[in-house]
Amino acid sequence: MITSKFIALAIIILLYLVSCGSSQRESNFLNHGFLEANLLKFGSSKVYPSGLLELTNASMRQIGQAFHGFPIPFSNSNSTNSVSFSTSFVFAITQGTGAPGHGLAFVISPSMDFSGAFPSNYLGLFNTSNNGNSLNRILAVEFDTVQAVELNDIDDNHVGIDLNGVTSIESAPAAYFDDREAKNISLRLASGKPIRVWIEYNAIEMMINVTLAPLDRPKPSSPLLSRKLHLSGIFSQEHHVGFSAATGTVSSSHLVLGWSFNIEGNAPDFDITKLPSLPDPPRPLSPSPNPPISVKKDSNNTKLIVICAATATVAIMILVLLGFWVFRRKQIFFTGGARKFSHQTISSATGGFDSSKLLGERNSGNFYKGQLAPTEIIAVKRITCITRQQKMTLIAEIDAFSKTKQRNLVNLHGYCSKGNEMYLVYEYVSNGSLDRFLFSNDRPVLTWSDRFCIIKGIAAALQHLHGEGQKPLIHGNVKASNVLLDEELNSRLGDYGQGSRDSTSGHMAPELVNTGKATRDTDVFQFGVLMMEIVCGRKAIEPTKPPEEISLVNWVLQGFKNGDLLQRCDTRINREHLVAREVLVVLKTGLLCANQSPEVRPMMKHVFRFLDGTEQLPHDDYLFYGV
Ligand SMILES: *[C@@H]1O[C@H](CO)[C@@H](O)[C@H](O)[C@H]1NC(C)=O
Ligand SMILES: *[C@@H]1O[C@H](CO)[C@@H](O)[C@H](O)[C@H]1NC(C)=O
Ligand SMILES: *[C@@H]1O[C@H](CO)[C@@H](O)[C@H](O)[C@H]1NC(C)=O
Ligand SMILES: *[C@@H]1O[C@H](CO)[C@@H](O)[C@H](O)[C@H]1NC(C)=O
Ligand SMILES: *[C@@H]1O[C@H](CO)[C@@H](O)[C@H](O)[C@H]1NC(C)=O
Repeated sequence: MITSKFIALAIIILLYLVSCGSSQRESNFLNHGFLEANLLKFGSSKVYPSGLLELTNASMRQIGQAFHGFPIPFSNSNSTNSVSFSTSFVFAITQGTGAPGHGLAFVISPSMDFSGAFPSNYLGLFNTSNNGNSLNRILAVEFDTVQAVELNDIDDNHVGIDLNGVTSIESAPAAYFDDREAKNISLRLASGKPIRVWIEYNAIEMMINVTLAPLDRPKPSSPLLSRKLHLSGIFSQEHHVGFSAATGTVSSSHLVLGWSFNIEGNAPDFDITKLPSLPDPPRPLSPSPNPPISVKKDSNNTKLIVICAATATVAIMILVLLGFWVFRRKQIFFTGGARKFSHQTISSATGGFDSSKLLGERNSGNFYKGQLAPTEIIAVKRITCITRQQKMTLIAEIDAFSKTKQRNLVNLHGYCSKGNEMYLVYEYVSNGSLDRFLFSNDRPVLTWSDRFCIIKGIAAALQHLHGEGQKPLIHGNVKASNVLLDEELNSRLGDYGQGSRDSTSGHMAPELVNTGKATRDTDVFQFGVLMMEIVCGRKAIEPTKPPEEISLVNWVLQGFKNGDLLQRCDTRINREHLVAREVLVVLKTGLLCANQSPEVRPMMKHVFRFLDGTEQLPHDDYLFYGV
């Protein structure tokens, strides 16, 4: 009797202890690697068999996030104060071929849903419309490797405290305080070497401290950032803790090696020998002068390791030098599907870039007509890249766009690179660009059915580029001079890629002017304006017109409000061939697309269906008040 009671009691006590243990684990944890960690992963993030957490690899426009499996009770029921916390983690940012980008952030957020967020400068946490909004209630500490001037970034290697947006309330160039030498030593975030971070918040002092140091250094006595911060407004409920990283047109692999967290107390310290090691490039070999934990190895082994490592270093250096030499000599790049042409081929095809072969001039580069073979006519765009960064961006774009084929896109055959010149080889489209048809009188007048067909072609091309997934291709420069017409007057969208964007007045979405960041939404805006230009046969901005007619969008909007949209049509179009229903659909869709607020603009797939007649436009009232 007594024994069975005793056993039952023991079991109950045991269960209680276990449940205490697991509830403890929810807000106090220490992960060396993430194999057994309770982690929720989103986007591009994944855990390698070594336990290494990779938030993004070095591909473009990715977002990767990972959050602790349980929300953390940041508010304490007793008082209005938020609670103190302390966290420490080890991260590494390894650079791809070009400049690194865009960075990683430690995040405390009420939600793990960042589906509307942008990559690049927005680090997968915010977008242009919710950046800085106090309803976000997000605290982040960013490790940013790209300078976004419009977001007040101080440089391209900084640490910042972000409250509800990526414009930091406090930031400093990455550095750590060396206690022995009593000075600050700067640190490159994207060096590929592991960096340890401590973030501590004291709710009574209302101070947040951010400290960082290379992994082989002890914790510096003074933090890099120290700031008074009242967090009780932010932390009025349970919050999730985790990491977010993003890439843009520049990219790095963002890695986390270990993470500890504690509510009301110091975050437990790492045993750095238990952290997963980084994949290549190998970790630095020089023994640290003051290793926090010394590893005893027998000297034979150590010798062997040193010899192997030295050999490997020499071999890698030789390879790097060789690679650099090949790069300088032959300018070989990785470009997925694109064919590489020799400079001589291109030069002789265009008669040495003769002015008689000039097809058009752009801010971004000139177009030449060329003949490769008796039947193969090409158009060559000649671009001068001033910086290496520009060239890398361009190459990344060639790579992405050369894999895309669609009948309304101009085919990119290949490229050629010589010195700081890049040549893009496109198929030649015989009838030239749409702007000549619309805005000058030296081409035949396009009928209504030509125009409607051209509009639907561009919509199909854009829909194809934008795709459905996380990684859309952004055209960045949708305008009449970038639409070419073939012999049957089918539209072919060309000159894509943000590297070639020129700012044309009247085509720039307001948020593009502010942030410089082209998105699907800014493409939709430009397409909206272009549709109106095609229907009305005039440019987006015509300063010589009477004031109410200068802006095409406003003029069409007025027409819509006055109920005489049809009067806005190009007067050169034969009225008898005008299909009123189609004209109205195009102009109303145009107004919807050219809305000032990106949230109101439809996605390209809907635009396509509106034009196609397979989806109804929103009610006119919506158009009225939406605009
Ligand atoms: C990054 O990951 C994606 C998806 O797993 C893969 O398609 C891509 O090739 C990777 N990029 C690099 C540079 O490893
Ligand atoms: C709540 O307040 C009581 C009395 O002031 C204190 O003993 C207790 O530790 C507090 N609980 C928490 C979770 O802070
Ligand atoms: C910004 O994000 C919010 C919240 O995720 C979303 O509702 C909104 O549509 C997004 N805006 C843009 C312009 O993507
Ligand atoms: C080190 O940097 C911190 C933060 O930027 C600054 O407050 C401190 O004065 C610097 N210390 C020295 C010795 O330069
Ligand atoms: C933050 O750093 C300051 C200056 O070193 C120190 O006085 C303070 O105690 C630290 N606060 C926390 C929460 O670590």
